Amino acid sequence: MKVLVTGHKGFIGQNLCKAIREEGWELTTFDIIDNPTMRPKDLDFTDVDCVMHLGAISSTTETDVRKIMDQNLSWSIELYEECRNQDIHMQFSSSASVYGNNKSERILSENDICYPSSYYALSKYMFEQYALKRPQSRSVLQIFRYFNVYGPHEEHKGSQASPYTQFAKQAKEKGVIKVQPATVKVLFEHLVKYTFLLLALETFSAAYQKFSE
Ligand SMILES: NC(=O)c1ccc[n+]([C@@H]2O[C@H](COP(=O)([O-])OP(=O)(O)OC[C@H]3O[C@@H](n4cnc5c(N)ncnc54)[C@H](O)[C@@H]3O)[C@@H](O)[C@H]2O)c1
Repeated sequence: MKVLVTGHKGFIGQNLCKAIREEGWELTTFDIIDNPTMRPKDLDFTDVDCVMHLGAISSTTETDVRKIMDQNLSWSIELYEECRNQDIHMQFSSSASVYGNNKSERILSENDICYPSSYYALSKYMFEQYALKRPQSRSVLQIFRYFNVYGPHEEHKGSQASPYTQFAKQAKEKGVIKVQPATVKVLFEHLVKYTFLLLALETFSAAYQKFSE
């Protein structure tokens, strides 16, 4: 089994690659940080069974629309088309942020209405919509809408790191966690929606097995 992971130098990518190596799968990687002008058509897909596409601008506050639409949307579309042409399965890292301001009290499902409220969320949602409109092919696409993931290697994300990591840092450095009352409520709501990293890795793996069923 050979997997191509994009965005492997990021937070989830580092953890995922470690898990893939431990699993004994063959692994090849690409991160745009190493080659900003490279496009999906230039990647080496030799013997690749599945692309796990994590590569994206992950900041929900990015305001450079042109950049985020190129790096997150166009890049993903080009990659998906390569996968389709070469019968390679793909896993796409979407985000719970696509639900945006959906105020539903219920637990949200894939069928719920999305109100993406950032360019980041929009870039993820637009890829989903693009992919849904493509005819079926031998290449299977799986889309994951991660909520907040936390775990090792997210220190580089600064204010975009998970609240869990930010509060752990505050506690370690200052001995206290400082939050506004409103933040506590939001935090509590978010905690119940957390995606534990371990769970995310198991999900990748379980979903991957489904390709071969
Ligand atoms: N961390 C979370 O809580 C969370 C939540 C929802 C969705 N996601 C999604 O999961 C994926 C990984 O997130 P992360 O937290 O590891 O982010 P990260 O910012 O730590 O890592 C992203 C990596 O992708 C690389 N990259 C950017 N654009 C690329 C492209 N077009 N092709 C290849 N590489 C590219 C970056 O250089 C970086 O190394 C992203 O797609 C993100 O949108 C993450």
